[in-house]
Amino acid sequence: MSQMEPIVTEHQTLRPLTAEDITPAYLEALNDPEVVRWTEARHQRWDEASAAAYITRSNEPGASVLLGIFLKDSGRHIGGIRLFNIHPVDRRAELSLMIFDKSQWSHGCATEALEAVVDHAFNAWGLHRLHADYYAENAASARLFAKAGFQIEGVYKDHFFIGGAHMDSIRVAKVKPRETALESARRAFIPSAGPSMTEWEVRRVSQAVQDGWYTNMRREIDEFERRMAAHAGRRYALALSSCTGAIHVALMSLGIGPGDEVSAPDLTWVA
Ligand SMILES: CC(C)(COP(=O)(O)OP(=O)(O)OC[C@H]1O[C@@H](n2cnc3c(N)ncnc32)[C@H](O)[C@@H]1OP(=O)(O)O)[C@@H](O)C(=O)NCCC(=O)NCCS
Repeated sequence: MSQMEPIVTEHQTLRPLTAEDITPAYLEALNDPEVVRWTEARHQRWDEASAAAYITRSNEPGASVLLGIFLKDSGRHIGGIRLFNIHPVDRRAELSLMIFDKSQWSHGCATEALEAVVDHAFNAWGLHRLHADYYAENAASARLFAKAGFQIEGVYKDHFFIGGAHMDSIRVAKVKPRETALESARRAFIPSAGPSMTEWEVRRVSQAVQDGWYTNMRREIDEFERRMAAHAGRRYALALSSCTGAIHVALMSLGIGPGDEVSAPDLTWVA
């Protein structure tokens, strides 16, 4: 995944973070108590070496990926989103994210990045389940995950010790939505179109039945053939009850018989 193509959204580019992306602004944010207040990054002071080691640890092929979130228009690095503990058999991963650039908070950046990564994880990487944990008082995370369709699965009582007191941790998860019956049918079958039957056809058929179709059936057929001939710019048109009948007549009119070769497509009856 560290060799992956960037994920491009409306306003962002997300790509694996590298040590070259470490800037003084990034380190300053990682050491800003307001930014890391409700993250595990709060437990240490960050410098270039520790940030580089974290980036290396977080980009372990097949197990973990740390995507930097960059604004498309300015190229500015504003945050990161990390998938880790990726399980190849169960096809699940844990997720964490941070918009470290405080000037970008509440602009929809986390929503845009999270939705894109969830979609990519399910549809490009083949993952089935994602889960995340957040500090119970982190209202922004609560709203963010709820908006992105994550469900609360449980509460870890007093999981964190912060500001002299314990705080709960909230576990949320999202499972790849199952296909609807219609979606799986669409994937399984070559689509075919049924005939178009409008009120008009229904009216004409019932009219023909009421008029005694068995005695004057030619009336409708003659009219149909006359109109078809005019439409096709031919002197005659012949109505038949099936495509099979039409092919027989066409072959006969061309003089095709035993021993002749006729090529036909392998997909027929599409309508
Ligand atoms: C949590 C965080 C990722 C949210 O990022 P963001 O880009 O500001 O989020 P968005 O702008 O996409 O907002 C998502 C929703 O949360 C709401 N929200 C944002 N900040 C909020 C706050 N402080 N309190 C309550 N709701 C908040 C938004 O209004 C929005 O909901 P809405 O669309 O119904 O209005 C960001 O604040 C952050 O990185 N904080 C520091 C690190 C952190 O806490 N990471 C999360 C670890 S789980």
